[in-house]
Amino acid sequence: MNATPTIVDVRAIPPRERHPQIFRTFDGLPPTGAFLLVNDHNPVPLLHQFRFERPHAFEWWPLEQGPEVWRVLIAKRAKAEPETIGGYLGGDHRRIEALWDDFRARLNAEDLPGARERFGEFSLGLHRHIEMEERILFPAFEERTGMSGAGPTVVMRDEHEEIRRLLEAIETGLGREGGVAAARDAVSSPCRELADLLNSHDQKEEGILYPTTDQLVDARAKADMVHLMRAI
Ligand SMILES: [Fe+2]
Ligand SMILES: [Fe+2]
Repeated sequence: MNATPTIVDVRAIPPRERHPQIFRTFDGLPPTGAFLLVNDHNPVPLLHQFRFERPHAFEWWPLEQGPEVWRVLIAKRAKAEPETIGGYLGGDHRRIEALWDDFRARLNAEDLPGARERFGEFSLGLHRHIEMEERILFPAFEERTGMSGAGPTVVMRDEHEEIRRLLEAIETGLGREGGVAAARDAVSSPCRELADLLNSHDQKEEGILYPTTDQLVDARAKADMVHLMRAI
């Protein structure tokens, strides 16, 4: 995932040639290969076209969402088979972790612009992941288990609040005047807290919430949930 993917910048391509070229690029990818789509608007119609024309065959990972440029990493799944909740959201955890590792590596290498860019992608991915859980996963879990007032989703929602607070603290720290040394100083404590929190948070979700939901939800509802999550 850290290898530089092919870039398909459709801003310079006439509109009616855009989708055919995108699908040609996708079809030419090896399994798990990816390309980076660059566009001047939110490519929602393309996402829907992928869902119908390449069902279960792709991943859709926004890296930048406007206001001028939209960048989405579009990857080919190893196998075009229906997703599970654990497979989809667990895979998103791994993807977000890889962005985090790259952010940390860039900061350690004193590449502040590179670290800021990677943190922006990480933060977008994590905010989006949290939205998927709060809007789609938790309500389904609460409805099917009857646990809402005192169940595990209450703890998860509280931890999400803490994650959002730490993301903001890191973003503020990275924007601090004084060069890379000042930025590293400012983010060191919230980075440590966030890494610890995410570690235990993700383990709880992958150990309990995701597998329980996979057991309680039938295949059709699962496919609908994954589609709704991917469109966030
Ligand atoms: Fe979560
Ligand atoms: Fe999660």
